[in-house]
Amino acid sequence: MIARELISLPSFAEDVEQGLSSSPKTLPSKLFYDEAGSALFEQITRLPEYYLTRIELEILRDRGAEIAQEVRPGVTVVELGSGTATKTTTLLQAFARRQLRVPYFPVDISPAALGEARERVESLCTRVSVRPVVADFSYGFGFLRGIPGRKLVLYLGSSIGNFDPGPAVEMLSQIRSQLATGDALLLGTDLVKDPSILVPAYDDAQGITEQFDKNILARLNRELGANFDLDFFRHIAIWNPEKSRMEIYLESLRPQAVNLASLNLDVRFANGERLHTENSYKYTMPMVRELLESSGFSLDATWFDRRTWFALHLARV
Ligand code: SAH
Ligand code: AVI
Repeated sequence: MIARELISLPSFAEDVEQGLSSSPKTLPSKLFYDEAGSALFEQITRLPEYYLTRIELEILRDRGAEIAQEVRPGVTVVELGSGTATKTTTLLQAFARRQLRVPYFPVDISPAALGEARERVESLCTRVSVRPVVADFSYGFGFLRGIPGRKLVLYLGSSIGNFDPGPAVEMLSQIRSQLATGDALLLGTDLVKDPSILVPAYDDAQGITEQFDKNILARLNRELGANFDLDFFRHIAIWNPEKSRMEIYLESLRPQAVNLASLNLDVRFANGERLHTENSYKYTMPMVRELLESSGFSLDATWFDRRTWFALHLARV
């Protein structure tokens, strides 16, 4: 595994200290994905309420050959935030039908997820050679320069939606600046739909999303000597129509003080005070076009599922 730009303890500690000292309190959602968090996300992808993964997979299955045809053979596939690459195997198989060897570079902050991605792809996709890269996108996309060949960059799962519009454009612009003519981006976006579908997707009946959300506190307990009592917080998911996003919070169920020993930090929560842990933006086509064009990409093709709940966009450099 190429270990570059790994999340380092000082930045982890700084992120936490800054987020918990700000008002309103917040934590960056990238902190969800330690080994336990990546495993919980895997469970989320299989929940009946969490339609995103199933529908994106459906598009990849139905339209994978067409997508592969849009990209000339001889391409190197780079996947940002690959996680365990469960859906990607479908697309890689479509590419493997068109070229003898498919170099595949999954990139993720989670070494545990990358280990699983490698095993899965190596066992299911002959002709695909896997080179995992551990990286935190907060430190840029310099790793793209080290990957040879014409590139198709995959950014699936609507992970772009976990960034606010400004940082999302900043991020796609940084990616764009590392690419050359002939390279392309395949971007997955979840689409705006009725809140009666959106809210349960982020607040499921089995409480797995709640565990995923609370794992961020468990992680601070494990890694920063904090003493969060997980039972004194509840998970909340709210649709914000003005901002076109789902918002996820942990709400304090009582006035409480928490100590983070490694940071020498005491944090007070009022009764009902919310800690903002994640946004998940839901897009319309004008929003997608604006996002891609502001980042220097041109939108070439879009594939939808039958109900237009999710979309995959091919954007050219
Ligand atoms: N693409 C997969 C996984 C999505 S979950 C899917 O569609 O199902 C989001 C993934 O992004 C996780 O695997 C997480 O570890 C990774 N991730 C989150 N923040 C990141 C960051 N700052 N840098 C690199 N990877 C990140
Ligand atoms: C990774 N990302 C696209 C997920 C989402 O839907 O925003 C993360 C997630 N958070 C709660 N459930 C899933």
